[in-house]
Amino acid sequence: MKRLEGKTALVTGGAQGIGFEGAKLFAAEGARVVIADINAEKGEAAAKEIGATFVTCDVSKSADVQAAVAACGTVDVLYNNAGIFWVGHDNRLTEISEEDWDRVIAVNLKSVFLFAKYAIPTMIKAGGGSIVNTGSSAAQIGIPDCDAYTATKGAIVQLTKSLAAEYGRYGIRTNCISPAAIMTPMMRQSNPENSSFDEERFLKLRTPLRRYGTPEEIAKIALFLASDESSYVNGAIVVADGGITINGDLSKIDSDR
Ligand SMILES: NC(=O)c1ccc[n+]([C@@H]2O[C@H](COP(=O)([O-])OP(=O)(O)OC[C@H]3O[C@@H](n4cnc5c(N)ncnc54)[C@H](O)[C@@H]3O)[C@@H](O)[C@H]2O)c1
Repeated sequence: MKRLEGKTALVTGGAQGIGFEGAKLFAAEGARVVIADINAEKGEAAAKEIGATFVTCDVSKSADVQAAVAACGTVDVLYNNAGIFWVGHDNRLTEISEEDWDRVIAVNLKSVFLFAKYAIPTMIKAGGGSIVNTGSSAAQIGIPDCDAYTATKGAIVQLTKSLAAEYGRYGIRTNCISPAAIMTPMMRQSNPENSSFDEERFLKLRTPLRRYGTPEEIAKIALFLASDESSYVNGAIVVADGGITINGDLSKIDSDR
């Protein structure tokens, strides 16, 4: 039997990158997958490719989130993956506008609140479920020049733990994957396409495995956490970053600061 047979999995930000590979693997493992993403063109194509349902959704908007949850009926697996690393807007705290701060908090953090708020009652009715949240290396260590992002990811790690403590009694497990350096459009935008980024130095001095990770590697962790294979795992933060956050070198800081 496939590992998600008979389950409905809601994947946010599944149009591309890590979310897409997660959705693809969930579908291959028998889940009925619903992708919720703001990018309708890519989302429709992604859903078609893997036999999923697509719902256009800005994850920061309550009405959109409620419609995505309604499209599922019961949500057995909630994969809170959507997020933005907003190059040119997010920054050192004193350089971020209040509007940009609010937007990053809404997309990355309020979304987790909204999806959990509306999906958990369906899980309780069904007798259980699995929530997989998405942190980042920015939740484990201080990373310069993305303070709004960092604040959201740290909060998601803590929210994971409180949800795990509160809803475990209903058979709902909540866990979090904290990736870094996974080769996706976001990663390319935030690192290799950034002119101040020294890729050779990053891989050599920051990344013990000396390579980028792949979205497929994260998808396998998401599948484990989504499925009954992880039936006694609740409140875990699975760090999947090739060892970046156990390494103390600060090569990403500009040399003039
Ligand atoms: N790639 C990495 O190395 C890395 C590292 C740490 C954390 N993460 C986290 O993993 C998750 C996925 O990252 P990725 O690299 O695949 O990113 P990505 O930018 O390649 O994909 C993100 C997806 O989220 C969607 N999205 C963005 N804003 C949205 C909104 N308001 N409503 C609905 N959908 C929205 C995008 O359309 C896109 O499909 C994010 O939460 C990110 O913070 C990634």
